[in-house]
Amino acid sequence: MSFFRPNCIMLLSQSALPFLSSLSLTRGNLIGAVKLVESVGLAAAHSHGAAAAPPSFASARGYAVYTRADACHVEQRSAAASGDVAKPPHERVHAPPTTLKAGGSFAAGAVAPHPGFRADLIAPRFTESFMPHPAYTADYLETVRPTHVQPEKLYQLVGFRVIQIARWLFDRATGYSERMSEAKWLQRIIFLETVAGVPGMVAGMVRHLKSLRTMQRDHGWIHTLLEEAENERMHLITFLELRRPGPLFRAAVIGAQGVFFNAYFLAYLLSPRTCHSFIGFLEEQAVQTYTHALAEIDAGRLWVDKPAPPIAMQYWGLPQGATMRDLILAVRADEACHAHVNHTFSKIAPNQTNPFATGASQLP
Ligand SMILES: [Fe+2]
Ligand SMILES: [Fe+2]
Repeated sequence: MSFFRPNCIMLLSQSALPFLSSLSLTRGNLIGAVKLVESVGLAAAHSHGAAAAPPSFASARGYAVYTRADACHVEQRSAAASGDVAKPPHERVHAPPTTLKAGGSFAAGAVAPHPGFRADLIAPRFTESFMPHPAYTADYLETVRPTHVQPEKLYQLVGFRVIQIARWLFDRATGYSERMSEAKWLQRIIFLETVAGVPGMVAGMVRHLKSLRTMQRDHGWIHTLLEEAENERMHLITFLELRRPGPLFRAAVIGAQGVFFNAYFLAYLLSPRTCHSFIGFLEEQAVQTYTHALAEIDAGRLWVDKPAPPIAMQYWGLPQGATMRDLILAVRADEACHAHVNHTFSKIAPNQTNPFATGASQLP
């Protein structure tokens, strides 16, 4: 046995630490090496101005655990007093809670501030959206017109027919007509925008989860989908400045979201291509509806010289004195952008790279 043990140590040392094999390691050399490390540790502790207590090799679990003398000697004493010396040092640190103060710094022992912390944003100013979104020139806004992609493939035909049926039913149910009051316009727009913000978030969520689940890249689609969802939510938030819905309306929104979210989620799992085509045609309808609203404004029957809410100026960067017409022009351009993006997504393979840059809608 006495013959076997030193040879065993030598064999393990040589296989685990090949560089030591050149030193012809023996038990005597090993003890010498431990003492050398202890003395180096002690010298290091003194050179950093720490307490004079020597570092220790605790062997609570049968293996050597090196403990810095300057960092842990207090914890070691308290651990010994509390009886949990069997734990390794990193498990018996009982640091007192730090009280954070305004202006505290990481160096002073406080938590490091978030790298993107913006103290200036705490002041009351526009913080509703930070997602990038396209900005349009005034000339471009006037040129946007309803467009239509001719369905050729089966998935496009399915998306188009579903939208035709959904619009026909919704128009009958809500009394959509050529002439509508401001209240009715707002009712329709607000309800549809609560629905329009769902698909981008669902598609982004599904692709995000798929990327996590399969441990594969997303190919850059997620940011565009989430930007679309945020853009639709900002349409909603903006129009809510003009009308506050009542309890019946809110109940209808909750019901519609419960049905549409789950239906779109399941449909997106089955055929993302059909879903993007469906949204492409839905956004075509949105461009038509906002073009109708613009015609009513220009005819002097809707929102005559009514100023746009301040949030619209902040989000779209509209000039001072902007009117509801300027707002509807900007929203219509957003919807045209969504139509273009979703028709494009429906035509490319799900594992193809997203051709849209952050906050952009035009193909490169
Ligand atoms: Fe919208
Ligand atoms: Fe849209």
